[in-house]
Amino acid sequence: MPRADIAWDERDIMSRITTRHFRKSKLEERKLVMVTCYDATFARLVEQADVDAILIGDSLGMVVQGHEHTLPVTLDEIIYHCRAVARGSRRAHLVGDLPFGTYQSSQDGAVDNAARLMKEGGVQGVKLEGGEEYAELVHRMTRSGIPVMGHLGLTPQSVHQLGGYRIQGRSSDAAEKLMSDARALQDAGCYSVVLEGIPATLAAQVSTELSIPTIGIGAGGACDGQVLVLYDLLGLD
Ligand code: KIV
Repeated sequence: MPRADIAWDERDIMSRITTRHFRKSKLEERKLVMVTCYDATFARLVEQADVDAILIGDSLGMVVQGHEHTLPVTLDEIIYHCRAVARGSRRAHLVGDLPFGTYQSSQDGAVDNAARLMKEGGVQGVKLEGGEEYAELVHRMTRSGIPVMGHLGLTPQSVHQLGGYRIQGRSSDAAEKLMSDARALQDAGCYSVVLEGIPATLAAQVSTELSIPTIGIGAGGACDGQVLVLYDLLGLD
């Protein structure tokens, strides 16, 4: 039961930060802090640092499982780590990555997989990589009550197609495409978008253009928030 003497603010009944906090932070020009985390012990520790959000990223395939890229990570594995992080934290907004192959083949399958991540993993939002080509899917998910965070630029699940971990959006055509992808994701209902590995000037332009917050990683300091892989933050790579 919510206590009558506590104002109904951006936190939900479970005291977790919700998507409303993301919108409010952008409006109030308050930078968002997100860090990846994969287990209960670190979830307790990063929460003490007062982060806004924890991303249970498929980067766990590299930093926890020892793979060379994120592609082998399965939905069951992400769910396992989401549950551990959910048990170790109370306040942070939890975002679970949809692994490679769990949202590409059909919209029905993608919605089912995202719903599993929320029901079984206990996260409050899911993240998927890609732009305009996923706008219809994002729209469908958000209409089904699944908050979606986008991810543009250097999208690690496409590492083989990109030809390696390379900065994206360098040419004017690529920058224009990224801007239009960002708009498409916003219009489809994304509550935030990660911008990874793009020039700082482009990230700044996208952040100015969008009304939803951008969360940068390797994209300069002008984004509305930053996300770091925990093991990089701790110098464990
Ligand atoms: O999987 C992950 O950790 C991510 C971040 C790099 C944004 O997607």
